[in-house]
Amino acid sequence: MTDVDKRLIAEAKRVREFAYCPYSHFAVGAAVLGASGEIYGGCNVENASFSVTNCAERTAIYQAISAGEQDILALAVVAEGPSPVPPCGACRQVIAEFRIPHILMANLADDVKEMTLEEILPEAFTDENMNG
Ligand code: THU
Repeated sequence: MTDVDKRLIAEAKRVREFAYCPYSHFAVGAAVLGASGEIYGGCNVENASFSVTNCAERTAIYQAISAGEQDILALAVVAEGPSPVPPCGACRQVIAEFRIPHILMANLADDVKEMTLEEILPEAFTDENMNG
């Protein structure tokens, strides 16, 4: 793990404290690294209408996009669990949209797993499938 990877995990842990999760009580934090070097964090934001819930990964990605950073180099996600917490399927599709190549998953015990975009979502549907 690089120093930047460690900073990403630290930021994901920090913003996890802001998670709005009154229904699941499962707090998740995420952070992404923009090509500028800026780091953007996000937490999960739940809703009484459960399906409207936004995962931490998507919150972090949308923070970066809203700041004008579409070139995202890495994403970290942190939650409490027996092993590093993987992004859900919906988040994997958003990670594929922005072609985030490097995914770090961690838990509060600092177990870390690193995977590539190709590993977490092989044969992803992207804009390339609509050209032609
Ligand atoms: N959640 C995330 O924020 N990211 C994940 O990778 C897995 C799930 C959230 C959604 C919901 O608020 C809670 O965790 C339980 O599913």
